[in-house]
Amino acid sequence: MNILLLGSGGREHAFALKIHGCIGLESLYISPGNPGTAEFGTNVTLDLTDFSAVYAFCKEKNISLVVPGNEVPLVAGITDYLTLEAKKDGFTLGVSGPSTWCAQLEGSKEFSKEFMFRHAIPTARYASFCQGQMDEAKLFLHTLTPPYVLKADGLAAGKGVIITHSFQEACETLESMTNLTLFGKAGARVVIEEFLQGIELSVFAISDGDTWQVLASAKDYKRIFDNDLGLNTGGMGAISPVPFADKEFMEKVKSRILIPSFEGLKAEGHPYTGFLFVGLMNVGGDPFVIEYNVRMGDPETEAIFPRLKTPLIDILYAMASRGLNTISIDLDSRTAASIFLVSGGYPGEICKGEVITLPRSLPEKDQWIFHASTTLEKGILKTNGGRVIAVTSLGKDIKHALERSNSLANQISFNNKFNRTDIGLDLLYFT
Ligand code: AMP
Ligand code: GLY
Repeated sequence: MNILLLGSGGREHAFALKIHGCIGLESLYISPGNPGTAEFGTNVTLDLTDFSAVYAFCKEKNISLVVPGNEVPLVAGITDYLTLEAKKDGFTLGVSGPSTWCAQLEGSKEFSKEFMFRHAIPTARYASFCQGQMDEAKLFLHTLTPPYVLKADGLAAGKGVIITHSFQEACETLESMTNLTLFGKAGARVVIEEFLQGIELSVFAISDGDTWQVLASAKDYKRIFDNDLGLNTGGMGAISPVPFADKEFMEKVKSRILIPSFEGLKAEGHPYTGFLFVGLMNVGGDPFVIEYNVRMGDPETEAIFPRLKTPLIDILYAMASRGLNTISIDLDSRTAASIFLVSGGYPGEICKGEVITLPRSLPEKDQWIFHASTTLEKGILKTNGGRVIAVTSLGKDIKHALERSNSLANQISFNNKFNRTDIGLDLLYFT
């Protein structure tokens, strides 16, 4: 089987690592990929906004499975497009991602809130507003107590949520979101919701439209600085599994959230295929949905996939071909700790082009180095963005996994390297 993987981050490096070497794989292409993915397949340059070019590539290389890593092509409708074109041509092409309709769960916060309310899925109380609705918004804000959570309706690269601490700040933020200053068109509509007090985690599930299964739990760390201070980032590290996501908690996640989500989508005529990432708040032992994402997380993938023993290609193929009932997910029971090394200044201004010195990735010792924003210039590895490299280690517990990842992180150098030093420490309390 030939596979085309779309994306260029640490998540896609982890996908490439796990697809490579699977029985049944002939060629793996990654577009655009990065120097890490190039170890496991062929990086190719395709315009990922031009689905007809992607389809032409699939035909040329006889691709049978397309794996979209991030949300952008999914929300723009790549699954429907490729599936329809292939059907017209009698060409066998699967996509392990959801339909355009289902991808709205991530593409529009309002869509996902409406879906959750239709199916009585626990989530924060909300209302949504656009420009010119300040009076209505003020009335709604008066029904809440601070802090207030404001979310740009559209895609904003994971950075479209602002938590404000006063009524006035909430009104000012709403104004600069709806007048498009803050997030452009993504902020034209804003969901304001009740603040949920608790501890966050994510649960990942896989579905083929008929059946679904839980893949794993993970916790990521979004803020740039230790103790969850500073600006939101794409993610500074992740731990999997999450110790408080025990059997009892996961039963609640299944019965209150995953079953009504997958069954609800089916009942509305839109069965879900692909990875479903449910961002949750554990409020006193009860799970509430913060958001849906229609793909794997980054850096959660760099923590979850090293634990995965089931061949990834089997899962991807099963999701795209209604074959999940034949798959059983086998995960290493040890803990994975993933720590991101970022360029100083991230998520603000950063310098690119710093030379990176790397030790060897040591999979035989259950330690991995995942490239995210790196580039090779004349054979020299350099930084190419904010989140540069993720290191992951398995350990007998969180502490052990962290010690090993920290020691690996210390062997990597580039100018202005920065990483959080408290990833996972909040979870020690639950162990
Ligand atoms: P989202 O992009 O929806 O995952 O939100 C980004 C971050 O904002 C989340 O990871 C939470 O830390 C925080 N957040 C979002 N919604 C809420 C909420 N209703 N209550 C408390 N925190 C929230
Ligand atoms: N780590 C959060 C995300 O992938 O959206």
